[in-house]
Amino acid sequence: LQHFVSVEELTNEEVLALLARGEEFKAGAKFEGLEKQTFACNLFFENSTRTHNSFHIAECKLGLDVMEFDVSTSAVSKGETLYDTILTLGALGVEVCVIRHNQEHYYEELIKSPNIDCAIVNGGDGSGQHPSQCALDLMTIQEEFGTFEGLKVAIVGDLFHSRVARSNMQMLKRLGAELYFAAPEVWYPSEEFDQYGTYLPIDEIVDKVDVMMMLRVQHERHDGTVFLSKEDYHRKYGLTVERAKRMKPTAIIMHPAPVNRDAELADELVESEQSRIVTQMTNGVYVRMAILEAVLRGRNCLK
Ligand code: CP
Repeated sequence: LQHFVSVEELTNEEVLALLARGEEFKAGAKFEGLEKQTFACNLFFENSTRTHNSFHIAECKLGLDVMEFDVSTSAVSKGETLYDTILTLGALGVEVCVIRHNQEHYYEELIKSPNIDCAIVNGGDGSGQHPSQCALDLMTIQEEFGTFEGLKVAIVGDLFHSRVARSNMQMLKRLGAELYFAAPEVWYPSEEFDQYGTYLPIDEIVDKVDVMMMLRVQHERHDGTVFLSKEDYHRKYGLTVERAKRMKPTAIIMHPAPVNRDAELADELVESEQSRIVTQMTNGVYVRMAILEAVLRGRNCLK
């Protein structure tokens, strides 16, 4: 791979190969090694715990020299653009930039430029794409069910603002899963989502699906309008303990995290037997190793 920015830019075969390699790393496979000293830089313009730290760990496991870009003390404070920042890092010799930014599709200008000399790995762009989250979600689903074909997956919650929903619905549909969506009407962009699955109340899907993928209510992307209290949201749209009792015994609960406990998901369910939320976080390290390895191979950085 030259870059890793959006599931739209990846073939099914490329994604499945990343999952397989992630599993190899999880089983203890050795990395074939870097040709020479290689720098990766993590630029997080939006906050993160999981994506940022698991990329950092993945980079360390691959033997990369890791640079953490501090937005507040960088020339961004003098008005430097993202383009000029990445142009600079490429010129300094950085091979891979992992970027999270609030601007959707920020990566398009970077990957088109003939002067940007580093691979771009998207750690999330606004409400656009979160392809590495999608990869770790797919890895977790595949570990559980062995296939995506015919699997019934519900994606539930703040769909409108969710880059996780967008990457997952696009990839899961392409891999043969049957998708269901549940959300408050104001957070259901039907013109965009209808082509991927069926919109139903959560009570009509909870007993039918294999995966309940719950999404965080993204308060930071709302305009301050609160249309429901946390308790009312939980009661009407959340996975409550009572609703979870109606899930198939083989079904699993997923959530990209951080979780608003007792809003989209009952506190008791976060670490319950049917939850795979902790596994998702663990898988993030291994699939991100696979992603970084693939882009480093694309830049001829491997032995
Ligand atoms: N799931 C996810 O992207 O979490 P972070 O915001 O902590 O990276």
